[in-house]
Amino acid sequence: MATSDAPDATPSFDTSQPTIARVYDALLGGKDNFAADREGAALYLQYVPDAGRCATENREALVKGVHYLARAAGIDQFLDIGSGLPTQKNTHEAAQEINAAARVVYVDVDPIVLAHGQALLATNDSTIVVTADLREPQTILDNEQIRQHLDFGRPIALMIVGIHMHFHDDEKPDEWVRTLVDALAPGSYLFITDFVDTGEPLQKNMERAGLESLGNGWIRTPERIEQHFLGLPLVPPGLDFLARWFPEEPDADVPDAAELQPWQRILMAGIAKKG
Ligand SMILES: C[S@@+](CC[C@H](N)C(=O)[O-])C[C@H]1O[C@@H](n2cnc3c(N)ncnc32)[C@H](O)[C@@H]1O
Repeated sequence: MATSDAPDATPSFDTSQPTIARVYDALLGGKDNFAADREGAALYLQYVPDAGRCATENREALVKGVHYLARAAGIDQFLDIGSGLPTQKNTHEAAQEINAAARVVYVDVDPIVLAHGQALLATNDSTIVVTADLREPQTILDNEQIRQHLDFGRPIALMIVGIHMHFHDDEKPDEWVRTLVDALAPGSYLFITDFVDTGEPLQKNMERAGLESLGNGWIRTPERIEQHFLGLPLVPPGLDFLARWFPEEPDADVPDAAELQPWQRILMAGIAKKG
């Protein structure tokens, strides 16, 4: 594998402050986190005792989405932005178990992701990790390594999974994503998960935990989350709670939303197709 700025750039980490990637890792039971991150995770668990299960269910949704994209949609190129620290099943593993030739680019703003990706991907030539910022989408599109690894003339699955909540609407995150989507070929897909606000106290608790620990982590109405898809049509079953969302089996017999546990009504997922 290759990396964006190796070998001369040695990432330096400020471990005194929690980061999104490391708090999420702590919630997933990972080991790539420090005391400040574990304190952040503890705050999440205080407000939302099942926050760890929310994180795990989000990872499961990521795999469901990637399996759909690699199998049913026939996608063999993945641009996973805000990819996070390596966990049990990552995008490249989910994609490459369907199509061994699938190519994956991980992008994350946190340099710890690059450091760990180097170790994980040492023997995987089809996958690279790049340190870049979603807030500067043009730098992602102009990145030489990314352009060499992915063919923007063919469909790509753009994954913005579990990131929107970290940006306030005033920052206009949809505009960053629009810049990326505009650069994708017809037949590409946009895969998103986000925190939802349907008026439930536990959803508000999730927001409080994020704001107090990380300074971000906003919830949004389903109507507002749909706008993240920029008017592109959602593939079945549309936008739904993670536990009800099975893009490979959109007609599956799923429980009513009201039958889910409250913690299962905190995140929603959807995939849209660029025509
Ligand atoms: C909650 S984690 C989600 C990880 C993974 N996508 C998942 O859903 O399991 C959010 C990730 O987004 C990254 N992130 C936050 N701000 C970002 C930015 N401006 N550009 C790129 N990545 C960012 C964080 O470092 C973190 O790894």
